[in-house]
Amino acid sequence: MKDKDLSNVMVIFGGTGDLTHKKLMPALYNLRYQNILPENFAVVAIGRRDKTEEEYRNEMLESVKTYSRFDIDEKIWQDLSSRIFYKRFDFNYDNGYMELSYFLDELDRKYNTQGNRVYYLAVAPEYFGIIVEKLYRHGMVSNETSWQRVVIEKPFGENLESARKLNKMITDVFTERNTYRIDHYLGKEMLQNIMVIRFANVFFEPVWNRRYIDNVQISSNETVGIENRGGYYEKAGALRDMVQNHMMQLLTLTAMEPPVNLDTESIRDEKVKVLKSLEIMTPELVEKNVVRGQYVGYRQEEKVSPTSNTETFVALKVHIENFRWAGVPFYIRTGKRMPEKSTQIVIQFKPLPGILYFKEYKNLLPNLLVIKIQPEEGVKLQFNAKVPGAGDITIEPVNMDFCQNCQISNNSPEAYERLLFDVMRGDSTLFTRWDEVEYSWRFVDAIAKAWAEKTPDFPNYYPGTWGPSEAEELLRRDGRMWWNV
Ligand SMILES: NC(=O)c1ccc[n+]([C@@H]2O[C@H](COP(=O)([O-])OP(=O)(O)OC[C@H]3O[C@@H](n4cnc5c(N)ncnc54)[C@H](OP(=O)(O)O)[C@@H]3O)[C@@H](O)[C@H]2O)c1
Repeated sequence: MKDKDLSNVMVIFGGTGDLTHKKLMPALYNLRYQNILPENFAVVAIGRRDKTEEEYRNEMLESVKTYSRFDIDEKIWQDLSSRIFYKRFDFNYDNGYMELSYFLDELDRKYNTQGNRVYYLAVAPEYFGIIVEKLYRHGMVSNETSWQRVVIEKPFGENLESARKLNKMITDVFTERNTYRIDHYLGKEMLQNIMVIRFANVFFEPVWNRRYIDNVQISSNETVGIENRGGYYEKAGALRDMVQNHMMQLLTLTAMEPPVNLDTESIRDEKVKVLKSLEIMTPELVEKNVVRGQYVGYRQEEKVSPTSNTETFVALKVHIENFRWAGVPFYIRTGKRMPEKSTQIVIQFKPLPGILYFKEYKNLLPNLLVIKIQPEEGVKLQFNAKVPGAGDITIEPVNMDFCQNCQISNNSPEAYERLLFDVMRGDSTLFTRWDEVEYSWRFVDAIAKAWAEKTPDFPNYYPGTWGPSEAEELLRRDGRMWWNV
């Protein structure tokens, strides 16, 4: 199998959907703009809506204009759009797949794409199994003389049990090696930078442990609500939508041990060890250390039950039970309708011994390292310094600030650019391995199970606030506070 050959046809199931419009097509255009897309390449988009190829291409042009980080270059767009095809069929019926199979062979001949395929499932999770099974049945997955890979969007299951079933269905056909479970957070520049910051700088790694770190706060907050996605969100909630995947990825990258080398599997092995070391959330611990919230007005959103108990906010405290982190609390917080949009990791360091300045000045702030993931990308270090002037010394916190997306010209590449290209070149480092999914579900399931035993008192926070007061209390009772820096 010519594994390294990037030539391929990308088949997008869900070609008329939101994700394709906003992320996938703009990412493909950006890759083409930067001359990164393979020369032998074509796209087949599948949906149910009735439209001609020309109409489809024009719609995609509008989306690319709106969402791409580059301007439209007429020649480049013409080249890409001439390779985009639209096919209309219902995923449930076989005749569409039969036609698709013939059409893909035809594209192989025309574009020299060697039988290589990226099947991108930009569809609701209930279709994942059906599509994979039909692709297999219609002989579109062989992985013998060519490669075929499948990209699965989140959510990967609803709990551990359903994730296991889904996984079996997919890997029976594609194998683990050709299954790309996407968590687009992993494609974000600053997430990839966490490992570089930790393992390429002498002044971070030696203090990255329980001796010097007081606590770690990982937050991902949005100002928006659920934005017409009520149907999906009602079933997911913040725990499944954010904690099971994105927050766990941020946690593992922050807490993992240095891998033996930078190979895909070595990195994933270390991430899994963190998940295995998470303290088991007993119902008592959930009661004590996990806060759920729902914003006022959620129950009035479209496709949301007026008595819904779905959470739009989660804050929790968890320990990682290994030598590096024993005793260090990791606080995780994610919510909708928060006062600001930000995803960041705050490392709070322990204070120095209570002598000298820490004796004389009662209100000295701790050292903080802030890794900003989005929308601002960068690193900030907060430390104490003397305010210039004569007389008594005054000490104030100052910041060393590296703003990554202020410094580079054409803003950071979109996560999907990096991820789509990685699928084509067969690099799964930034995708989630099955055991990562499995252990994250194990953690999240324990919380969901404890919650199911008790009806929450929802709604319990106002839009524009930092969630229910219990979330503040979670840290206050430990003598700490959330750093909204
Ligand atoms: N949107 C995002 O930003 C985002 C972010 C992260 C993850 N995701 C995940 O990505 C996936 C897709 O999300 P989305 O927001 O793009 O959904 P969407 O806008 O609802 O699009 C669904 C797509 O599936 C097609 N479809 C549905 N049923 C079909 C059937 N029986 N036969 C053929 N086509 C069918 C629709 O085609 P027609 O409309 O033509 O019928 C449409 O193209 C979901 O798993 C979601 O959780 C989305």
